[in-house]
Amino acid sequence: MLQNQLLKEPGLQEEILEGLLSETKRLPSKLFYDERGSKLFDLICMLDEYYLTRTEIRIMKDNIHEITSFIENPKTALIEPGSGSSIKTRLLFDNMKELPVYVPLDISEEHLLKTAETLKRNYPGLKVIPIAGDYTKDFEAFTGAVPQDFKKVLYYPGSSIGNFTHRELQHFLKIVAQFLGHGGGFLVGVDLKKDPSILHSAYNDRENITARFNLNILERLNREFGSDFEIQNFSHKAVYNHLKDRIEMYLVSSLVQTVHIAGHKIFFARGDKILTEYSYKYNPAEFERLTHECFRKESLWTDENNYFGIWYFTVR
Ligand code: AVI
Repeated sequence: MLQNQLLKEPGLQEEILEGLLSETKRLPSKLFYDERGSKLFDLICMLDEYYLTRTEIRIMKDNIHEITSFIENPKTALIEPGSGSSIKTRLLFDNMKELPVYVPLDISEEHLLKTAETLKRNYPGLKVIPIAGDYTKDFEAFTGAVPQDFKKVLYYPGSSIGNFTHRELQHFLKIVAQFLGHGGGFLVGVDLKKDPSILHSAYNDRENITARFNLNILERLNREFGSDFEIQNFSHKAVYNHLKDRIEMYLVSSLVQTVHIAGHKIFFARGDKILTEYSYKYNPAEFERLTHECFRKESLWTDENNYFGIWYFTVR
């Protein structure tokens, strides 16, 4: 049923082929989030080793009144790119009397619509406007969804911002600031630098859920793109790059092999790897320096270990 679904997104087919045919092979991280990948990601968020989710939720719970005071207003639209299951957003809704318009945006349409239906049932006063799409490509497409005289607040939790390279981050911050307009709000969760062994465990969990999440990209390509990856011939690898302050996630070929995809042959030597994700870690001063040009810092909340930070910024 999902056959050829990937082919529909303009440019994605070319992006996949270009990545696989280049000398340092790579695949776009957005391929993680089909229905199965989104479910696996939800499981990752519950893992003991993946401290990010529970730490961010703890920070939110501990500071919820201060956080919602920046958002609560009957004329505010809360926009969440990459909304997934909207779990953290519920914390905001549960603690606001004046429920704003909520615009969740996600690449996984099925998951998005299911979540939107549940939210509508659970918060009857809330206007939910789900939009399926790739926000990393086009933000303007979402402008029409927000009532014109509403203040826009972009909610970007989970340290998804860490999945951008520095250059992509600069571009993202500019289009977000433009989209929100002067006075618009930006509530963002960011994973902070810490002991690399903690990071290593978070991306190499004992139950191998992260490995399944990573390998699902290849299964997805087989299903939707007609490729013939032998999944058992690849393994998950996640390493911390100390010089770049980022986790790098790869799929490593365990033998010499050739994979066929869209009329092309992709050759793999033993140990050849495909880059699937970067996950950057920041320290607060560094992150504030990167955001300074477009945003004014209003507040920063962290946990007792300084593992994770939640910032509220306004557009300058
Ligand atoms: C979505 N993103 C913030 C996650 C991360 O931690 O970079 C994706 C992830 N990759 C492996 N585990 C989780």
